[in-house]
Amino acid sequence: MSEFISSSEKETKEIAENLGKNLKAGDVVLIYGALGSGKTIFVKGLARGLGIDENLVSSPTFTIMNIYSGENLLFHLDLYRIEHEEELNALGIEDFLDMGILAVEWGEKAEDAPWANNSIKVFIDQTPDDKRKIRIEP
Ligand SMILES: Nc1ncnc2c1ncn2[C@@H]1O[C@H](COP(=O)(O)OP(=O)(O)O)[C@@H](O)[C@H]1O
Ligand SMILES: [Mg+2]
Repeated sequence: MSEFISSSEKETKEIAENLGKNLKAGDVVLIYGALGSGKTIFVKGLARGLGIDENLVSSPTFTIMNIYSGENLLFHLDLYRIEHEEELNALGIEDFLDMGILAVEWGEKAEDAPWANNSIKVFIDQTPDDKRKIRIEP
């Protein structure tokens, strides 16, 4: 477990970049945090750490999943609008997960999925002074 305090978007990206450098295909990162806490910013940092242009990363709120490629493939899920487990199952994640790294915004909605076993969890909390407390497990 590691814990960080981030005072800026830039710092959050750096924390995520360091995590990204240690990820490999098949890894799943579940990201928890309220709207505006910095989940998408965190994914931008992950992309950077994976050798992917962070400018490709945008919130896939209307598409459910985006796929970015560079030195690695990054699958980016945003489950904000997912209401039923079947919608998640329909994506067939296990069929392609081996090919890249999966980052999931609103990770709590994926916890029951078989492919979320052994995932890395990132909790982002906004502090009263508008910083972010970032906890990474394990
Ligand atoms: N320390 C910080 N880390 C991440 N984002 C921050 C931080 N401080 C302010 N922000 C701002 O918070 C917003 C986070 O947006 P976003 O990543 O889209 O949130 P989410 O995906 O969780 O809804 C951005 O506008 C970003 O500039
Ligand atoms: Mg987002």
